[in-house]
Amino acid sequence: MTVRMAVFGTGYLGATHAACMAELGHEVLGVDVDGEKIASLAAGKVPFYEPGLPEILQRNIKSGRLRFTTSYEEAAEFADVHFIGVGTPQRKGEFAADLTYVESVIDTLAPLLKDAATIFGKSTVPVGTAKRLGERLRRKSPAGDALELAWNPEFLREGYAVQDTLHPDRMVLGIDDTRSGVAESVAREIYAQIIDEGVPLLVTDLATAELVKTAANAFLATKISFINAMAEVCEAADADVTVLADAIGYDARIGRRFLNAGVGFGGGCLPKDIRAFMARAGEIGADEALTFLREVDNINMRRRTRVVEMAREAVGGSLLGARIGILGAAFKPDSDDVRDSPALNIAGQIQLQGASVTVYDPKANENSRAIFPTLGYAKSAEEACAGADVILVLTEWDEFRKLEPSSLAHTVRQKKVIDGRNCLDSARWRDLGWEYRGIGVRVHSD
Ligand code: UDX
Repeated sequence: MTVRMAVFGTGYLGATHAACMAELGHEVLGVDVDGEKIASLAAGKVPFYEPGLPEILQRNIKSGRLRFTTSYEEAAEFADVHFIGVGTPQRKGEFAADLTYVESVIDTLAPLLKDAATIFGKSTVPVGTAKRLGERLRRKSPAGDALELAWNPEFLREGYAVQDTLHPDRMVLGIDDTRSGVAESVAREIYAQIIDEGVPLLVTDLATAELVKTAANAFLATKISFINAMAEVCEAADADVTVLADAIGYDARIGRRFLNAGVGFGGGCLPKDIRAFMARAGEIGADEALTFLREVDNINMRRRTRVVEMAREAVGGSLLGARIGILGAAFKPDSDDVRDSPALNIAGQIQLQGASVTVYDPKANENSRAIFPTLGYAKSAEEACAGADVILVLTEWDEFRKLEPSSLAHTVRQKKVIDGRNCLDSARWRDLGWEYRGIGVRVHSD
């Protein structure tokens, strides 16, 4: 059955959700306060890089199932199902999440809702938020008790956002057990096609649903920091963390995924989510339970410093006046997102130590320039490496994995490469005379 819905927030999460819900056959209105973003989406243009999303967006705009607006009045009139997909960034100078945008959607929408409606929150929020927002919504709306707020966290990964939305591993729905409970049947209608494919829908209370999302991200961050801690040990012991990861990864209880050592995790989710989780645990009296996340964060940040040190060693002890070519700026491949990107952080640190840094990323040059205008930017890997004393590969784009070492040999000043993602074929680079160094791998080949 077709459901009419509004999706508030048209960033990575909201735009993808809106387009994918239209793809499932629903009638969707995407809403944002940013007129420029709305104009771009309405014209079929995604304002960020997400493979597969432009096609779905354009197809559904053409079919008439997907429209965009900046008007909350229009949204309230059009739909009785509303999704909240706005951002919850880290508060300035604090670990806690900034809930301004989520609260603003509730405060603007509530007075406009005159009849029964269901509101699904998708944003990542501290546990306890949904209950509070539900009460706020009913208090501020003429529809009052006819409104139900449920929490339906999103687990999508950038770069796979469409796939993760249409074919998720699981769906989670937190419902308010003090309400009538229409939210579950509405959700089952919306996601019928996905549920029919056998994807499990776990129905929980509000607090558990909120926690599932933060716990999942905390676990993933911990897994990455665990292998990066092993990388530190491997470096000290002259052992190889990639072989170690393969070997422990064969144990099904451990699993090989998310065990890639390197410059660590970044992006708009993992770093801020583990910090907000710690802050919230403190507020509810469970701070001891999450002190380990502080260490997870420390291990992650230490990788960045370590790679800067490796670059300094490679150029003879001082970065002053050195030329560094950096391949990769996005926080991960298949994304143009540079929020808390380890690559860009390292590029900045190296430049601050007096080196001349040139960056190339297949998709993220523009976004990088906006926040780090003082770095040099190149249009190709070859251009970024021109005259370099050492090259750093910091995002594992396929284009870099496939780089032919000989195509760069003539352009660099020294044939030295630091593989911050352990993504290059080290034997091949070494065979062609390059000094290769990876993360937690042996310095000298056998
Ligand atoms: C993450 C979660 O995966 C997703 O479920 C959630 O909804 C949002 O946060 P995303 O931020 O898109 O998604 O990135 P992800 O693919 O999880 O990667 C996060 C970071 O970890 C990247 O910087 C990546 O390079 C790094 N990473 C990942 C590693 O350093 N090693 C690994 O083995 C895996």
